[in-house]
Amino acid sequence: MGSQNKELEAARLLNAQTHIWNHTLSFINSMSLKSAIDLNIPDIIHKHGKPMPLSLLASSLQILPSKSQYIHRLMRILTHSGFFSLRKLPDEVEEGYVLTDASTLLTKDNPLSLTPLLLAMLDPILTKPWYQVANWFQNEDPTSFHTAHGKAFWEYAGDEPKLNHFFNDAMASDARLVTSVVIDKCKVVFKGLESLVDVGGGTGTMAKAIAKTFPEIQCTVFDLPHVIHGLQDSGNLKFVGGDMFEAIPPSDGILMKWILHDWNDEECVKILNKCKEAITSKGKEGKVIIIDMIMENSKEDMDDDESVETQLFFDMLMMVLLTGKERNEKEWANLIFSAGFSDYKITPVLGLRSLIEAFP
Ligand SMILES: C[S@@+](CC[C@H](N)C(=O)[O-])C[C@H]1O[C@@H](n2cnc3c(N)ncnc32)[C@H](O)[C@@H]1O
Repeated sequence: MGSQNKELEAARLLNAQTHIWNHTLSFINSMSLKSAIDLNIPDIIHKHGKPMPLSLLASSLQILPSKSQYIHRLMRILTHSGFFSLRKLPDEVEEGYVLTDASTLLTKDNPLSLTPLLLAMLDPILTKPWYQVANWFQNEDPTSFHTAHGKAFWEYAGDEPKLNHFFNDAMASDARLVTSVVIDKCKVVFKGLESLVDVGGGTGTMAKAIAKTFPEIQCTVFDLPHVIHGLQDSGNLKFVGGDMFEAIPPSDGILMKWILHDWNDEECVKILNKCKEAITSKGKEGKVIIIDMIMENSKEDMDDDESVETQLFFDMLMMVLLTGKERNEKEWANLIFSAGFSDYKITPVLGLRSLIEAFP
């Protein structure tokens, strides 16, 4: 009995050690993926068009010949994490690497490529605040980003073109993917609108696609002046610079994708109040269209660990870089009703995110 207990105790200790090691080193997943992208590996395999043997992959990379011997180790962890898989064609001797759905979304020439978002999140400007989280808990700064960089994220983006560009590119890459789904699955949401303002619409990716799909809607991209600087109006699309806490251009519909999760509850109610003021049409068509996550959503495809953990990652990201957070349905309802809206409707068709319509 005693020796059985000791064995169990040892097994528990070793499991705990594995758990700690795994979490201590899990940044290696992110950094290995970034290295593969920096080396152009997904694109090279994609261009090859069939399973690519290791030796051919290694000789196709712009690396020193003496470093070729290490490539299989990078490929091994990325195969383990689901970014590549090994396959052998019937008439080939050697097996080779092929892309998975995830790495296909990371090729640079894929119009829906998520590479800009990955490169942005792993840029030192955005990883530095993570070293300050404990300090931030002990100081008066509003965010860890302040502690690391001495100013708020949006102010830094206004002062530092590098952050402004890579962040806008990252948002545009996400917007391309979301837009394709929204336009495909949620056309009815835009029905009856004569005008739409994309508040915090970045460089206009989503509004451009909406303007093209619905030529009858006058679309406006509204964002901070440094974001829309130099962007040209065309057809039914125009760019307006300003501050959503001051005033939002009048419109039937207001779109806010990945805006409210950037801000705390008080700030969100202020923004939603400004939206309400901006909705000119008092009829049933006037609305705010929010695209954001809903935490603890009981939707079936949200039940897996990876989806839950990814939402928790985003919640932490909002806390560390900004003053925001991810919200469950009850928290969303509180915000929407606090700003004086009378009803809302959730359409959960965007993977981890949902489309929420709020009606005045
Ligand atoms: C997370 S990004 C989302 C961009 C875009 N909606 C998308 O999802 O692709 C937040 C956007 O809000 C803009 N923003 C931040 N503060 C703002 C303000 N006070 N007034 C207007 N836009 C603002 C930022 O410049 C940025 O483009």
